[in-house]
Amino acid sequence: MIRRIEGARALTGLAPGGQLELIDDAVIVAQGGAIAWIGPQAACPPAFQIEALRGSGEVVEYIDVGGRLVTPALVDCHTHAIFAGWRAEEFARRTAGASYAEIAAAGGGIAATLRATRQASDELLLASLVARADHAWAGGVGTLEVKSGYDLSIAGELRLLRIIAKAAAVAKPTLVPTLLAHIVPPEVVAGGASAREAYVAAFCNELIPEVARQRLATSVDVYCDQGAFTCDEAQRIWRAASDAGLGVRGHVGQFAELGGAALLAELGARSADHLEHVDASAARAMAERGVIAVMLPSACIALGQAPPPVAMLRDAGVKFAIATDFNPGTSPTQSLSLNMWLAMSHFKLTLAETWLGVTAHAAAALGLADRGTLAVGARADLAVWPCQSPEEVPYRCGDLKPTLYGHQGHSRPPIIH
Ligand code: NIG
Ligand code: FE
Repeated sequence: MIRRIEGARALTGLAPGGQLELIDDAVIVAQGGAIAWIGPQAACPPAFQIEALRGSGEVVEYIDVGGRLVTPALVDCHTHAIFAGWRAEEFARRTAGASYAEIAAAGGGIAATLRATRQASDELLLASLVARADHAWAGGVGTLEVKSGYDLSIAGELRLLRIIAKAAAVAKPTLVPTLLAHIVPPEVVAGGASAREAYVAAFCNELIPEVARQRLATSVDVYCDQGAFTCDEAQRIWRAASDAGLGVRGHVGQFAELGGAALLAELGARSADHLEHVDASAARAMAERGVIAVMLPSACIALGQAPPPVAMLRDAGVKFAIATDFNPGTSPTQSLSLNMWLAMSHFKLTLAETWLGVTAHAAAALGLADRGTLAVGARADLAVWPCQSPEEVPYRCGDLKPTLYGHQGHSRPPIIH
């Protein structure tokens, strides 16, 4: 099928390190799921004019978007969307003064979701994940990363990743699965140092090779912070991931600078996420190795934290992505455009950094070079927004919902003129 979008205000220049540009009265022609031509109507070559497309013998869909903003579909590169149970009571306790660490020490936090997820049926986890993925799509997300990490037994993590694979077959966005070493599970912690050592060994020597063999994830993420994995443990898991041909990512510096970001740079990781605490030498190393800094504003603000050192990271040459960190504890919102607003208003990212952060740079954090940009050859995952200018999307604090025209063709009925 050929799709010809006309009358667009197209946001281009979204490529790693790119500069935003707007093309007025733009035409975008998508063929075979990829962008075949993009540019101003006045410069459209005869082969992409309506008459020639009509004569091609393929089904052609014409959509006049009447001057609306057209961007790549958004990429949410960091979510924990597979879980059972919500933790609203923790929210109330935190706002009354309890800290995340105190709640975790009392058996709440990640461990509470671990218990609920382990008890949940495959059917419940699948149905809730598909519903959440489709909710993200309705907010403009064409590619959604989903981390495992709320079971953490070897068999249980494989179960979660298999459910993500099943959801991927029916969900509207493209799902990108990540294996997450989230915390050392409580029953392992209770077993002491030798149980902990055996757990990390099993994660590296059994789980990661099996996940790679069955292609159940494209990256491995480790939460390396106080109360989670130590740097030594994280390094072993990241090296096992890299040896298995999987991408390396990390939750680092959320509460303490343990050296995780420097380690991720040394390993040539795809991304380092959170980074409320990171030093300048680690930032320079990240920039040199092209490790994307994933900013998670709603999680940071929910925990009442100061923002990451954005100006320092920028001066070091680091590229930013922005994600929701959607999870039942620290970030119960799925809205990536709300996070665009928070990134600009609270983290002081520029408009260009913000758009790159939810498109090309977010795709790079997932190791995907084929999307997140409006350019010939890129995947034709397009978002048509009910506004004209790129600043309106963050400005409206998550309220604007685009119509998505997806590569997989899961589109809503188009307006045909
Ligand atoms: O990215 N930091 C660790 N993991 C999540 C929180 C998960 C939870 O509280 O359930 C995060 O913020
Ligand atoms: Fe997270």
